Parts: sequence; structure tokens; C-alpha cells
Amino acid sequence: MRHLIEPTDFNDDETMAVLDLADRIAAAPEMCAHVADGKKLATLFYEPSTRTRLSFESAMLSLGGQTLGFSGAEQSSATKGETVADTARVVSCYSNIIAMRHPKEGAPLRASMFSKVPVINAGDGGHNHPTQTLIDLLTIRQRMGRLDHLTVGFCGDLKFGRTVHSLVNNLVRFLGNQFYFISPEELRIPEYLKEDTLHPANSLYWEVSSLEDTLPKLDVLYMTRVQKERFFNEEDYIRLKSIYTLDPEKMKLARPDMPVLHPLPRVDEITRTVDDDPRAAYFDQVQNGVYVRMALIMALLGIADPVTGEKVLKC
Ligand code: NCD
Repeated sequence: MRHLIEPTDFNDDETMAVLDLADRIAAAPEMCAHVADGKKLATLFYEPSTRTRLSFESAMLSLGGQTLGFSGAEQSSATKGETVADTARVVSCYSNIIAMRHPKEGAPLRASMFSKVPVINAGDGGHNHPTQTLIDLLTIRQRMGRLDHLTVGFCGDLKFGRTVHSLVNNLVRFLGNQFYFISPEELRIPEYLKEDTLHPANSLYWEVSSLEDTLPKLDVLYMTRVQKERFFNEEDYIRLKSIYTLDPEKMKLARPDMPVLHPLPRVDEITRTVDDDPRAAYFDQVQNGVYVRMALIMALLGIADPVTGEKVLKC
């Protein structure tokens, strides 16, 4: 049985196979309309979510399956003191696959150790968000035609932004990618990302603070929200929250084909006036989220692609 907990749990071939299936589903979603008939997805969300939970549910419904679950720890037995391990053991009796979001780093990993069914990490604290990474990779590949030899700029809250940590973990595996990390001093990428990921991969990277100076150098820009819920001190949040704003003026500095990604929700780091720019790719990411999660559920449940007859994960 396989889980998706860390962004590198799938090797390169498996990652590409999930993206390829997602692309095929995007072209003809109806081909998978009944592949998960009779299967149930449990969504255990201990933290707020709009896109991730609803797109998981939409994905399972589009595959013919059904969903159950809770959104908000206060609706679960966590309020009575139940551990994640016990909840996972119990819910795996009710479902065929579990998607879990939790404010504590490592909670989905713990759940996977006690679950009888595959567990998907739908975001754990400031740590990882591997399904968002698959969506980001698919969107970059659709826009740029490749995932290698790219100069990618990450801008905003790089300390707490789990989508950034997960995407960097995957992008270092492709040849020739280099990174600009654009943030204020206080929101720089964590040391462990440098030591465990960037340095072993010999990746070239720069930590800078100016978005304007960096924009002309980028093939891809990944904007992020300042993660209010992970700040200890409200004053720091207020001081840092609007530090970067991408607007049409700044977009003039960027290459004509530079996609702008953002995992959403956005606050004020991208103005609404950028939405009509053809380079704005963040609503493509939302649509891709459903296709990627359909492909992922099929992969983890061992459901073959109805067209090729192939399973995504060979073991
Ligand atoms: C992100 C998350 O939850 O980490 N959102 C998402 O899943 N698309 C980003 C964020 O909350 O800022």
C-alpha cells in the first residue's frame, strides 16, 4: 500500500505518470466517470480549506466515488482528546482512502502508520503540501513545456509557505533548475530546506529582497500569501503582510511568457488587475487541482487508466 506524505514519495517516473494521467483526464474527464464506483474518500481537515478539500471531494465524485469527513477539528473527536493515530485507524474502517490536513507537522505521516488505507497529506503545518506540488508541476509543464532548466522565483512567505517547501523539493530533481527566493529577512526559506534539499542537489539559488530587480530574470514566478495563522506575533504579521504586491506595472518588467503561479487564497499580494494578464496561471492551477487529484486517487487505489489499461504506480 502506498501513501503520499512527503513531496518526494513518488519517484520521477511515478510523478510524471500522475501528471500524464491528469493531462489525459483534463482532455476527456468522462473517461473516468465510473472507475471508482463504490469507493469512499474520507476528508479529515483539522485546518480551514476551500480549494483542497472541495477539489478532493469533486475529484472523487467525478470518478464515481463518494465522500465523507469533517472540516474543522472542532467537529471531530480531537476535541475529546482522540489521537491522530486512533482517528486514522477508525476512519480507515469507513473509507478506501483518506486525505488529511492538519496544523501539526508530521500528523499525516503518523496517520499513515496506523491506517489500513492510503493516506494523502493535504497540508501539514508549515511543512509540506505534496498534492499542491503535483498541481504546480502540471501547470508549469503546460505553460513552459518542460520542468527542467527553469529559473523559478518564489516570493512572499518562504518560511511558513508549505507549498514552496514541497515544490522546491520536487524541482531540484529536474536538471538545471535554479531559484530566486524573494522575501524579507524574517520570512526566508528554512535552514533545513537548504541543508536537506538545495545543497545535496547542488542547486543554484539566491536569497534576495527585491521583486522588481528579480522579475526580469525569471521563467516562472510563484507568489505566496503571508501565512497569518502561523505567526506568533500579530504586529509582525501586520508589518510584513503587504510587503510584496504584484501589479500590472511590475508585470511589465517580466518576460512575455512568464507564468504567475499562486496556490491561493490570495490576500493582497496580486492585484485583481493582474487576473486578465494571459500570464496569470493561478486559476489554471485551481482547475488542474481536480484533474491531478482524480489521477492521484486512481494511482493510490490501484485503478488502471481506462484507455491504456496501465496502472500509474507499478508497486
Ligand atoms: C495553500 C495551503 O493551504 O498551504 N493553499 C492551498 O492549499 N491551495 C496556501 C495558503 O494557504 O496560503
